[in-house]
Amino acid sequence: MNVCVIGTGYVGLVTGVVFADLGNEVICVDNDEKKIETLKNGIPTIYEPGLEEMMHRNMQDARLFFSTNIGEAVRKSEAIFIAVGTPPKDNGETDLSYVENVAREIALNIDRYKIIVNKSTVPIGTGDIVREIIEKNKKGNVDFDVVSNPEFLKEGTAINDTLYPERIVIGAPNKHVAMKLLELYAPLERLMLITDVASAEMIKYASNAFLATKISFINVIANICEKAGADISLVVKGMGYDSRIGASFLQAGLGFGGSCFPKDAQSLVHTAQKFGENFNILEEVIKENDKRVNRFVERIAEKYDTLEGKTFGVLGLAFKPNTDDLREAKSIKVINSLLEKKAKIKAYDPVAMENAKKIIPNITYCKNAYEAAEKADGLIIITEWNEFKFLNLDKVKKLMKNPIIFDGRNIYDPNKLKRLGFRYISIGRKEV
Ligand code: UDX
Repeated sequence: MNVCVIGTGYVGLVTGVVFADLGNEVICVDNDEKKIETLKNGIPTIYEPGLEEMMHRNMQDARLFFSTNIGEAVRKSEAIFIAVGTPPKDNGETDLSYVENVAREIALNIDRYKIIVNKSTVPIGTGDIVREIIEKNKKGNVDFDVVSNPEFLKEGTAINDTLYPERIVIGAPNKHVAMKLLELYAPLERLMLITDVASAEMIKYASNAFLATKISFINVIANICEKAGADISLVVKGMGYDSRIGASFLQAGLGFGGSCFPKDAQSLVHTAQKFGENFNILEEVIKENDKRVNRFVERIAEKYDTLEGKTFGVLGLAFKPNTDDLREAKSIKVINSLLEKKAKIKAYDPVAMENAKKIIPNITYCKNAYEAAEKADGLIIITEWNEFKFLNLDKVKKLMKNPIIFDGRNIYDPNKLKRLGFRYISIGRKEV
């Protein structure tokens, strides 16, 4: 099938590259000329394991193209995927202006039947908005359908998640268009669910909000564990054996960040209000998440007479491992809070430092974790990159001025750290 994907962010680029890998002819479109130039040179504009190789392979086989020319891409394609950003407005509502602009561009270029697919995370009713915009602005009597096909990929494992999704949701207005999309996804041989458009839009938000709820829930349990002398890791193990609960997305820590959970949770609260419903549970989930960093920084501050002039090594800046994405990353808040208290920061992240330098310029960036630990009054783990799990902790201890580790992601065994002579403060577990 001839496909175009508009928007080359995490979702758009990965979707386009995977569609090409499945044998389709794909044009990835973006209005950022610099981005498209970089992509045309075979350089991915995001860090995502496996992406570069897949990109090269499909560019070489002439199935994957990059362009700023949306009109040409629309005219050449049977299916047009919209994967542009849907950032939050100040009040938490989703800003649909990029989606609406793309819909207008599509309308101006639609010359025969097309399937327009919303891949961006958009609130319920957006399918109708896109349809109305195209209907109003199209030239001539051409037919089209608007489908919702939400994306569930996680950053860091995006290629794998796209190749092996647990489900593919297709919210279609009629059977004909549903069959067309089934055909496109058929080579993946995964479970597919066909729904109406509004239900598909809701599935995405309800899923993300539910996962966010699991995280805030377990973080509150962790708070209680800290005070009650219980161990959150064992509690989660015991809960997770119940298949009705499951152990995933119950990792207590600094809370959820990234480009989806914080904004999608806010947006769903808004949608609920729009329909005259309260979503108090979700509002509490968001509030709880917002408290995580302060609580953590307070626990750090408690261990020193003052933070002024103290040096902290910070390990991990990305909002989660295997990505260079810093959107809603807890590192930014933790570091800014420590800087306000006049502490000094030496940070290291395997891939996110270039992006971090633009957001937090006034700290020292290190070559590796050991350099960050050198002469530090404390070491703070913010992102659970694998390489931090396998550090030579004897060496770390010798390098540090004061061997105390604050672990926001529980990557170490407290007993081991105690044996090695560290003071170790983690989440939902006794301090040792
Ligand atoms: C999420 C959804 O998982 C994905 O389906 C959707 O398409 C986009 O949003 P992503 O934001 O890439 O994906 O990352 P995810 O792995 O879900 O983590 C989100 C945040 O939750 C991270 O900040 C992570 O650290 C945090 N998290 C996750 C926890 O604190 N505990 C957990 O148990 C899991």
